[in-house]
Amino acid sequence: MAARSLFDRYGYRRIELPIFEHTEVFDRSVGQGSDIVVQKQMYTFTDPRGRSLTLRPDGTAGTVRAFVEHRLDGSMPMPVRLWYFCPFFRYERPQQGIDRQFFQVGVECIGTASPVADAEVIALGVQFFESLGLQPHLLLNSIGCPEDRQRYIPALREALGDRIEDLCDDCHRRLGSNPLRMFDCKVAADRRIMRGDEIPRISEFLCDACKEHHAALQRILEALGVPWKDAVDLVRGLDYYTRTVFEFDLPSLGTRTSLGGGGRYDGLVEELGGSPTPALGFAMGVTRILEALRGSKDPAGWRPDVYVIWLEGLAEVATAAAIDLRRAGLRVVCADEAKSLRAQLRVADRMGAVRAVILGPDEVQRGVATIRDMTTGDQREVALSGLVEDLS
Ligand code: HAM
Repeated sequence: MAARSLFDRYGYRRIELPIFEHTEVFDRSVGQGSDIVVQKQMYTFTDPRGRSLTLRPDGTAGTVRAFVEHRLDGSMPMPVRLWYFCPFFRYERPQQGIDRQFFQVGVECIGTASPVADAEVIALGVQFFESLGLQPHLLLNSIGCPEDRQRYIPALREALGDRIEDLCDDCHRRLGSNPLRMFDCKVAADRRIMRGDEIPRISEFLCDACKEHHAALQRILEALGVPWKDAVDLVRGLDYYTRTVFEFDLPSLGTRTSLGGGGRYDGLVEELGGSPTPALGFAMGVTRILEALRGSKDPAGWRPDVYVIWLEGLAEVATAAAIDLRRAGLRVVCADEAKSLRAQLRVADRMGAVRAVILGPDEVQRGVATIRDMTTGDQREVALSGLVEDLS
């Protein structure tokens, strides 16, 4: 609900993505150098007509495929802003923070190269976490355009010199397919090498246009009061990124600290058959967010505005009152049984209800209900006929 109304305020419309696509869509988008392809994290199968299909490992590929196939640039005002909330599938080793089926909530903004869009997408992410009571660190970097990387890679190779031999097999492969990914290596010895002072950073190789894009984004974030950390090693795990990359990181989560991330993918629409169209987006990992909310002192998860408590013989009055309150837009849970008042209050408290409406035979006979403030314990009576107006 929180995400839906927030995305709506930023002009995003929901897209329903298919659970599987032709494998080629993902091969060409997430990229041959990404973990998803390299570590064979895709659930790929053959359909009865022999076509190779794959369960979606991310939402960017499917959204861009839909944008190209349905020519959304002709039917919707540009940039096209879309959001999704659905399960994704990656064949990874299940462990804390990593599941084979996981939910992401994400946005894609297709058809703009402006740094204003980068700032707005990032601000949307920040506000999304704010609405949940979470404050992850925003890590920010620019990985430039493909030309920047062409200049960077030989310099990286040269700086690594003899040390290339000390790197793990995966990094040898990455050096050929996507050298930036070497900064993501989890092998301690490789990490030490890649963090060494003699290793050049992509930021030193940005062309003037990419540099100006990044500087403009930083100026707008500063004006918006959005704090970030420069993360010169942040490269992200998917091949399609260009220029801006960012992640929302919560160190208290332990090993898997990224609650979400995203960036620009200015070449992807063309890669999937469309005309050159710059774009960007992010996706947040719902499982990790729930984990973070469980661990926070002030969980901002779902809680009812009203918990309706009723005593024997008043089921009809209680359910009718609950429905009227929901019609007025309140989040309402109605007790399903007439247990003792104390037992029902305990449930209301455990659910974090803001207020309880108490319906006892005496009150109902007098045409009133008791409203209890669940934080202070204060109680007052209101006429049953004015309950909705009072509480909304
Ligand atoms: P990603 O970094 O692969 O990006 O995933 C985004 C978030 O999804 C991660 O930060 C993490 O919280 C969650 N996540 C990823 N894999 C798993 C897993 N196996 N189990 C649990 N949670 C997971 C993308 O997917 C890009 N498509 C984001 C994007 C959108 N970039 C541009 N637009």
